[in-house]
Amino acid sequence: MKLSVCTLQRYAPNPHSCGNSGSVEIAKKLEQALAENRLDVALERIGCFGACLKGPNVKLMPAGKNWHGVSIDDVDQIIAYIKHQP
Ligand code: FES
Repeated sequence: MKLSVCTLQRYAPNPHSCGNSGSVEIAKKLEQALAENRLDVALERIGCFGACLKGPNVKLMPAGKNWHGVSIDDVDQIIAYIKHQP
């Protein structure tokens, strides 16, 4: 499995981006949680999903599960979802 986290940071005049909404910290916390739970899931930091106004955005493949508006507080829920994947 692969967990993709958009960490793109944009600057003015269009600063809307996951990286400006905390996704860099979210990616770090997810990475730590994956390791602590010994989950065989690669975390990938990507440039943009094309859903910038809904961010921070996280996607699990191959399940195709998307999370939008993710915060640090959602990390446990995402890890729990991954643990229940076949
Ligand atoms: S900046 Fe994250 S989806 Fe575009």
